[in-house]
Amino acid sequence: MQAELQELLVEQLKDAYSAEKQALRCMQRTVTKATSPKLKDAIEAHIEETMGQIERVEEALGTLEAKPGRKVCLAMRGLVEEAVEEMGDHKKGPVLDLVIVAGMQRIEHYEIAAYGTSAALAKALGSSKAAKLLETTLAEEKAADGKLTEVTQAEVMPSALAEGKDQRSAMRR
Ligand SMILES: [Fe+2]
Repeated sequence: MQAELQELLVEQLKDAYSAEKQALRCMQRTVTKATSPKLKDAIEAHIEETMGQIERVEEALGTLEAKPGRKVCLAMRGLVEEAVEEMGDHKKGPVLDLVIVAGMQRIEHYEIAAYGTSAALAKALGSSKAAKLLETTLAEEKAADGKLTEVTQAEVMPSALAEGKDQRSAMRR
């Protein structure tokens, strides 16, 4: 039983490793499409953080005597595909920024779910080193999600609404 659970944790972490790598590539492409300076900063900061998170997953796998391997996280593939497709429907500007946030927050929530379960499993199995690493990342993911909400309220949403108003008054003219 313990061995089966340990194997489950390893598989969860291999999945998280693939998810983070895909999210990283997505953010690196997305940051060039953002207009809001606050949003750009938030994405850039999370790109940096994500690099550390990838290392942390490797380290956690190492404590379980495992390696990332070639597992592909299909859920993240879907989230990224959908985000990229929706971004393609908008030109650079405040509305695209909102689309970027919508995609990124879906990605962050997926990661929060993944790390929540694996941190709890690591803890339950007595893998305290792995649990600590995963809890650290979990806290970062939650903070990144919160930052996106903050940036949206402060800059992205007001700009998108202002652009909507401009378009309406231009149509009336
Ligand atoms: Fe993340």
